[in-house]
Amino acid sequence: MRIILIGFMSSGKTTIGKILANNLNYNFYDIDEIFEERFKISINNFFEKFGENKFRELEHYLLKKTLLEDNCVVSCGGGTPCFYDNIKLINESGMSIYLKLPQYDLLERLKKTKKKRPLIVDLSNEKLKEYIYENLNKREIYYNQARVIIDVKGILPQSFVVHLKELLEKQNLILPFKKE
Ligand code: S3P
Repeated sequence: MRIILIGFMSSGKTTIGKILANNLNYNFYDIDEIFEERFKISINNFFEKFGENKFRELEHYLLKKTLLEDNCVVSCGGGTPCFYDNIKLINESGMSIYLKLPQYDLLERLKKTKKKRPLIVDLSNEKLKEYIYENLNKREIYYNQARVIIDVKGILPQSFVVHLKELLEKQNLILPFKKE
């Protein structure tokens, strides 16, 4: 069983993914982290040196490779499902979950964390607001294809994970994790 988290930058994919994997006793994979480790370069620097197209090509390659693993939670980058038919691959590989947040919340979060994100690092807060508006609409075409869509506004990651785990267990998608 694989659980694949998708959603806009700063929607909580990594934070929630780590807690979820821990709770399920699954391995956790973060495509951005794998990218930086594998190519020994920060995503910011990679974009600067080689551009977005090359990034998307390698991101696709790493996603395909990672989705060969089983019993894992995979956290994608914000753009991952929107290129190379990745959303199809994601849906064929496991339980995809779109972590949905309203634009306002994304804006507040991204104002504080835009430095490490090459696509928005140079934007003023006003431009950032426009960027989110334009791109969220475009990207939701892909995000909304997830098997499960969850509104994560105001939800604490820990309690979210408890609910999600219950939901998955009820539907027999994962076996309850028994402590030894
Ligand atoms: C991107 C999101 C980033 C990272 C890269 C591109 C995007 O991941 O993959 O900067 O296109 O939205 P996070 O969603 O973890 O910020």
